[in-house]
Amino acid sequence: MRWTSWALFATGVVSGASAVSLTRVTENFGPNPRNVGFYIYVPDNLAANPPILVNPHWCHGTAQLAYTGSQYATMASKYGFIAIYPDSPNTADKCWDVSSNDTLTHGAGGDSLGIVSMVRWTLNKYNGDPKRVFITGTSSGAMMTSTLIGAYPDVFAAGSAFAGVPFGCYAGNGYGVWSDACATGKITRTPAEWAAVVKAAYPGYNGWRPKMQIFHGTVDEVLNYTNFKEEVKEWNAVFGYSQTPTISTLNTPVNNWTKYVYGGNDWFEAYSAGGVTHDIRIQEALVLSWFDLACTTGDCFRWGKGGA
Ligand SMILES: *[C@@H]1O[C@H](CO)[C@@H](O)[C@H](O)[C@H]1NC(C)=O
Ligand SMILES: *[C@@H]1O[C@H](CO)[C@@H](O)[C@H](O)[C@H]1NC(C)=O
Ligand SMILES: *[C@@H]1O[C@H](CO)[C@@H](O)[C@H](O)[C@H]1NC(C)=O
Repeated sequence: MRWTSWALFATGVVSGASAVSLTRVTENFGPNPRNVGFYIYVPDNLAANPPILVNPHWCHGTAQLAYTGSQYATMASKYGFIAIYPDSPNTADKCWDVSSNDTLTHGAGGDSLGIVSMVRWTLNKYNGDPKRVFITGTSSGAMMTSTLIGAYPDVFAAGSAFAGVPFGCYAGNGYGVWSDACATGKITRTPAEWAAVVKAAYPGYNGWRPKMQIFHGTVDEVLNYTNFKEEVKEWNAVFGYSQTPTISTLNTPVNNWTKYVYGGNDWFEAYSAGGVTHDIRIQEALVLSWFDLACTTGDCFRWGKGGA
């Protein structure tokens, strides 16, 4: 019951007509205290300074299932970006460590540091664009997305989280600790409290904050919809935005989903998926557009170029 979404994604499309495939990186790629598995998809027609898309899997998922379960590898082939598929070291349930002090703190350790090391290694090896590093995931992958956006705002340009929870909501004493309180929507904080949780992840950091996009089903039975409202509070407070949306659009991008835009500069948007459970459908085209990953020349979205 707890993790039903894997079945949906496991039956997804097989990506790419290309000869390249998912490859495991076994060499030392930098600090990786939890031994997170590193899988990478590097298309043949790599862009000159390729952007990077990180796609952490869901609980009971794997890097391979994430790779075959979406269109992102096909899109990487088309637009020349690199896709990284980390693989959770947690053999018990393959959920990510989004609870430990280490993972929730910049540079401290945990699963998050291993993933950041993958990004840094890839930027270096393929002359990647450090201003165009993105992350998206569903469920536990969404939680890891929020974890990295919160703890490593200097590494990521933007995030997109489907059916996740606020940064720090799973905080607990240990690695990969499950939080029933957070999952069932019992953890609520004021916007200022949430902003303080995010800021404590990287004390003293005053640089740019990554753009953030979230999606959540109103009848999510695994990670209660309260988490959507808490995420809205959290990211608005981090960006210093009003909690009142500046634009609300019905039936976008799916019938009965509502899009809320906050602030004045397209830095945070939230989609409330009416009548949708935890098995929310990812929206690859919308995510690609949010990251501007179809842009291959000229004035592509670059982190730090504008906004907050
Ligand atoms: C994590 O941080 C909390 C709060 O600072 C502290 O109480 C706890 O002992 C820490 N846990 C570990 C394992 O370091
Ligand atoms: C989410 O939590 C609220 C408040 O406890 C509850 O009323 C609602 O039924 C929960 N949603 C689901 C889908 O379980
Ligand atoms: C549309 O969303 C509302 C909640 O926003 C929900 O009550 C209703 O059941 C949904 N309709 C469908 C057809 O899913």
